[in-house]
Parts: sequence; C-alpha cells; structure tokens
Amino acid sequence: VKEVTEWMSKRSGIPVSDIRQHWLLLYNEDATQHLFEVSAGLDSLVLGESQILSQVNIVNRLVKETKGNGQVIRELFQKAISAGGRARNETNIGSGAVSLSSAAVELALKKLPGPAALSSAMVLVVGAGNMGKLVIKHLVAKGCTKMVVVNRSQEKVAAIREEMKPGVEIIYKPPDEMLACAAEANVIFTSTSSATPLFLKEHVEVLPPPHARRLFVDISVPR
Ligand SMILES: NC(=O)c1ccc[n+]([C@@H]2O[C@H](COP(=O)([O-])OP(=O)(O)OC[C@H]3O[C@@H](n4cnc5c(N)ncnc54)[C@H](OP(=O)(O)O)[C@@H]3O)[C@@H](O)[C@H]2O)c1
Repeated sequence: VKEVTEWMSKRSGIPVSDIRQHWLLLYNEDATQHLFEVSAGLDSLVLGESQILSQVNIVNRLVKETKGNGQVIRELFQKAISAGGRARNETNIGSGAVSLSSAAVELALKKLPGPAALSSAMVLVVGAGNMGKLVIKHLVAKGCTKMVVVNRSQEKVAAIREEMKPGVEIIYKPPDEMLACAAEANVIFTSTSSATPLFLKEHVEVLPPPHARRLFVDISVPR
C-alpha cells in the first residue's frame, strides 16, 4: 500500500497525506470485485457509461510502465477490461445515456421549453477540461450553435473552438466575468475541478430574474 500510494503521489503531484484522506482501501476479492464493477460501469453515476472503461485502460497502461507490475495485476486488469466490454456488448447496461456529459445535455433539453430550445437558449459552460469539452460537443450535436465558455486558461477554449465545425460560435470569458455571464444565461453547465463551489446561494440570489428560466447543471465531483 505504501509503495502504491507513493507512486500515485509521484505521478499526480498530490501529497501522500491528501491521498490518504480520500482513499478507499480494498484487498483481495473486494478489490477484484470493485475493479470489475468499475470497468462494467456499475459504479458510475450514469450506469454503464463508457468513459470509465477508457479510464481503466489508461490506468492499465500506466501500471504496465511501473516496476511493481506483476502477472497477477496484469491479468486482473486484462480480465476486468474484457468483462467491462462484455457487460456492454452482451447486456443492455450501456444502451441508455452513454456518459455523464451527454446525460447533462439531455437533462437540459428535457427541462427547457420546446425541442429546439437549445438553439435559442443562452448557454454558459464553466470549465473547458475534458468534461467541459464533451458537454460542448453534445450541445453542438443537439443544435446549439452559440455558447459562452468561462475558463481560467483561454488556450483550452481556443483549442476546443478549433475542433468545432464552421458556424459554431464559442465566446471565451475569464472567470471574473462568470457571474455577469450567468446573469444572461438560460442554462449553465459547470464541470471544473475546483475544490470550492463556484456559485453560492448569495451569488444566485442577486442575479436578475431570467428571461425564461435559468437552469444550473453541475457535473463536477464533488459538487
Ligand atoms: N473526466 C471524467 O470522466 C469525469 C466524470 C464525471 C465527473 N467528472 C468531474 O468533472 C469535473 C471536471 O473534470 P475534467 O475531467 O473535465 O477535468 P480536467 O480535464 O482536469 O479539467 C479541469 C477543469 O477545471 C478547471 N479548474 C480547475 N480548478 C479550478 C478552479 N479552482 N477554479 C475554476 N476552474 C478550475 C480547469 O481550468 P483551467 O483549464 O483553467 O485549468 C479545467 O477547465 C471534475 O469535478 C470531475 O470530477 C469528470
């Protein structure tokens, strides 16, 4: 446990003491069962979502590069990844919403009035990491062609803009303009790794009343 924790700390830059506060320690069969459940998407907020299987694959690749990678661990990961694939191919577990980001966009679509609501809604996305980018892609797939994106680094927003098809307008705003942007928005998606909440009750209370409605969809963990 000590060696694995030190390896995690070295790779992530997170102090061992912080990792210890948040870890879930499982041994033997419990650890095996947990890895299989995670791979199959049984432990995910959106049951059967596929992103987690890619993440298990990434961990598997990282583990392969380390010294402590023995045959048992290698086989454990291989079997868990293959079971994750089988769970999705041979059952209906993955047939609903495929990821948290797509579920967030589907939820907004349901709550906003009318099927074409996203094309006319003022949309704000806070956070331009992996999840923010996926939210933006799902929004575009559902007909949203203009949105404001608030992020600390402007470069990430520029990179996402590059990937978009012509006709999609992505407007960058810095974090200090977040509340002003929220005041204009009908739907606000938040997906950042901030350790503290970005919107507090007192912020929302003083926002001007929305034109139609103002919906907050937060997919950050913790929220
Ligand atoms: N990836 C997943 O599969 C997944 C699934 C479910 C939930 N989530 C949750 O979604 C959230 C985002 O995950 P991610 O995968 O997109 O992470 P990521 O790719 O590492 O991106 C992190 C994002 O959060 C921003 N950020 C970090 N610290 C911040 C702070 N103190 N104030 C404001 N913005 C801050 C970053 O801004 P800069 O670019 O300016 O640094 C970046 O936009 C997390 O809460 C994560 O737990 C992720």
